[in-house]
Amino acid sequence: MRRPLIAGNWKLNKNQEETAAFARELLFDLGDEFPEVMIAPVFTSLAEAKQAFANSPVRLGAQNCYAETGGAFTGEISAEMLKEAGCDYVILGHSERREIFGEDDTLIRRKILAALQARLLPILCIGESLEHRESGQTEVVLQKQLQGALAEFTPEQVEHLTLAYEPIWAIGTGKTATPEMAQETHAFIRNWLDQHFGDIEAQKVRILYGGSVKPGNVDALMAQPDIDGALVGGASLQSKDFLRLIRFEQG
Ligand code: 13P
Repeated sequence: MRRPLIAGNWKLNKNQEETAAFARELLFDLGDEFPEVMIAPVFTSLAEAKQAFANSPVRLGAQNCYAETGGAFTGEISAEMLKEAGCDYVILGHSERREIFGEDDTLIRRKILAALQARLLPILCIGESLEHRESGQTEVVLQKQLQGALAEFTPEQVEHLTLAYEPIWAIGTGKTATPEMAQETHAFIRNWLDQHFGDIEAQKVRILYGGSVKPGNVDALMAQPDIDGALVGGASLQSKDFLRLIRFEQG
């Protein structure tokens, strides 16, 4: 009942020309049976991407937004502006935003609210560090991130969310959580949603896995019952690799 979503987070990669070239290659090979597909390019490539993916099923996302609609916030961009630029999704709370740019759960929560108000679909990223995984703190960390970002939300708001479980130690490292480990954590997250928002919402919300998803491991990950898609960095930059992820085999 949850339609899988394969999402590419391009991070700080691909200018306008490279975005257009990727779109041409991907659309040349894309058939029409596939999961939902989303690409999140850099802000300055959004207009190019909108044009290049027009009349295709590929949806656009942004990698971040600010929590306010306008004003004296140098360097920021609003959710409304991203919607106007053609985005359907916005990635929020990515570990790189948390770690490099110091974003905390309170700010992430405000950003989710701003996104919902602009009718953007937030993809909330959560995940533990290696240190936390090794000291058995994974669930405590995830619970804190979930609570901090979502605690006072209504079930109706939560329904519009997608979650992405991205263990920090698996991002860009080539180390993936084993499918069993990822499944166990996804089940924990779904159970948290169930306890806070009820079974109907918990069953509706998609939980993506992110962290070194590659053509070689996507099938095993996607075969897990609580893994509803992937949020992909490195392997979303080559159209052939990304296409293989879109064509994951459900086993
Ligand atoms: P990699 O797929 O490069 O590990 O990146 C994952 C990620 O951070 C997606 O948001």
